[in-house]
Amino acid sequence: MALRGLLRLGEVAIRVLDMAAAREHYGRRLGLHEVMQGEGGRVYYKAWDEHDHHCLVLREADSAGMDYFAFKVYDDATLTELAPKIEAFGLKVEHIAAGVYPYSGRRLQFRLPSGHLMQLYAHKEQIGNTLGTRNPGVMPDEGVIRGFRINRLDHCLLGGPNIDQNARLFREVFEFDLSERLIDVDSEASLALFLSCSTKPHDVAFVLQPEEARFHHVSFLLESTYDVIHAADLIGKYRIPVDVGPNRHGVTRGATIYFFDPSGNRNEVFSGGYVHYPDTPTLTWDTSELGAATFAQDNIPRESFLTVLT
Ligand SMILES: [Fe+2]
Repeated sequence: MALRGLLRLGEVAIRVLDMAAAREHYGRRLGLHEVMQGEGGRVYYKAWDEHDHHCLVLREADSAGMDYFAFKVYDDATLTELAPKIEAFGLKVEHIAAGVYPYSGRRLQFRLPSGHLMQLYAHKEQIGNTLGTRNPGVMPDEGVIRGFRINRLDHCLLGGPNIDQNARLFREVFEFDLSERLIDVDSEASLALFLSCSTKPHDVAFVLQPEEARFHHVSFLLESTYDVIHAADLIGKYRIPVDVGPNRHGVTRGATIYFFDPSGNRNEVFSGGYVHYPDTPTLTWDTSELGAATFAQDNIPRESFLTVLT
């Protein structure tokens, strides 16, 4: 299947308690590139190998967490096609005019059954990855790849109720595949659902939580597993709070490290994972193997990983 419809997670908007500390973290430590400051003191970042203007928006607020997440879709006609389908699913769609969000075309906005605010947009100004598009080479100038050497925004994991309804929306309306799921071994109830619209093992995931609209983590892609260790070295050097040190997920098979920004929002950097195709069977994990599903190098489930959200 050619990649059309929803393309990728294109933007995550996060609340931070102290913007100066957040800029130190996301800019100097992670090495994301600050591309602008906007309305309400918002700060916008991109990762080096993305072409679109920005992928991360920070807003200073009294509580940490996520304001919204947004997927980029293939073209404007896709937005036109999707709006009535989302309404038919039972969600109210708000139409946001082009330009309301900086460098962005029009957006659809709706609230998921889990309480999360989701947006879709087809256009965001492309400013490139510094290599150009003709004879681009493979390495940008020195200093462009810096900090944790993040290539791009990859996915987010969100917590809330009604995750089966979320998955039904993503599968039936957005044409995602359910790549993996974690279920309770006794009741077979869904505890975490991993959804892909690409060849990645997941583009978004939802974990069952009693409270609506919770934020578990935003994840950034690194080029290699060695870069995960390099990031871990910097996390140690700069005393960044670690949730789970370098390990490998059973789910997705990615090499991972989890840590917190100064506001307590969880971040992940990872590398690897298998290739997902539309005919790849859904993989099921149950709670009898919770350790192996989450952290497969020691098979130990982490209490904080399962309970700390913003
Ligand atoms: Fe993740």
